[in-house]
Amino acid sequence: MPTWLVTGTSRGIGLELVRQLAAKDANTVIATCRSPSSAAALGELASAHKNLHVIPLDITSEESIREAFEAVKGLLGPSGSIDYLINNAGIGSGETIVDATPAEMERQFRTHVIGPMLVFRTFLPLVEAGSRKVVVNVTSGLASIGLDIGPKNASYSIAKAGMNMLTYKTARQYPHITIFVMDPGWVKTEMGGPDAMIDADFAVSKHIQLYEAAKLETHAGKFWSYEGKELPW
Ligand SMILES: NC(=O)c1ccc[n+]([C@@H]2O[C@H](COP(=O)([O-])OP(=O)(O)OC[C@H]3O[C@@H](n4cnc5c(N)ncnc54)[C@H](OP(=O)(O)O)[C@@H]3O)[C@@H](O)[C@H]2O)c1
Repeated sequence: MPTWLVTGTSRGIGLELVRQLAAKDANTVIATCRSPSSAAALGELASAHKNLHVIPLDITSEESIREAFEAVKGLLGPSGSIDYLINNAGIGSGETIVDATPAEMERQFRTHVIGPMLVFRTFLPLVEAGSRKVVVNVTSGLASIGLDIGPKNASYSIAKAGMNMLTYKTARQYPHITIFVMDPGWVKTEMGGPDAMIDADFAVSKHIQLYEAAKLETHAGKFWSYEGKELPW
């Protein structure tokens, strides 16, 4: 009876992930998003699935993260735990080093590094209580220096590279937690755009396979593709 918590589920990969997870009655799914009242598709999904619970969570606000933790504790009760914590929420950005503004760099860093770090630290007691202890930070192939993708999407790539290092550091600090980064592939979502290579339902089916198969010894502290191949940092 695994319990999943996913950030950024109003649309895109996060919404598809909670859709596929909630389709299995054995899963308890906590779908978090910035503004549940405007997340219509998520609301419809929650009305159709008793095992899907929507909780407000803006990962850039410490207060919101704390409130979400209290709400999740209340929902799960005293013996509650989280088996899979998926830091999926993200924001795109298209500029290069030539035109990246300090404000955009800060926004990217807050969303892709500070937010996931605070979500991890705040929800850690519930992850520790879980039997799987799997934490996934959803990164991007653009964050890889080894793949040598070039100058595009500078602030986004730099922040996701920060997320990669955050994940490595966390894995070394907490050697009993299966924490890793995953590049979800180029997926047809608002961020990925219509020319992306893969549909969200196919991509997410592969993500779930990777998450469910993840093992401490083989996966922790590493950079995985959605197809389960190890990527260069
Ligand atoms: N699609 C791709 O090809 C691709 C490729 C590589 C990596 N990724 C990564 O995959 C993840 C999901 O991307 P996607 O394609 O599904 O993007 P998307 O369609 O733009 O969805 C992004 C989601 O993140 C949420 N979000 C943004 N900032 C947030 C915040 N501060 N607090 C809580 N939620 C927040 C958005 O919620 P709101 O409705 O509140 O804005 C939305 O639900 C991201 O981390 C992205 O960087 C995607």
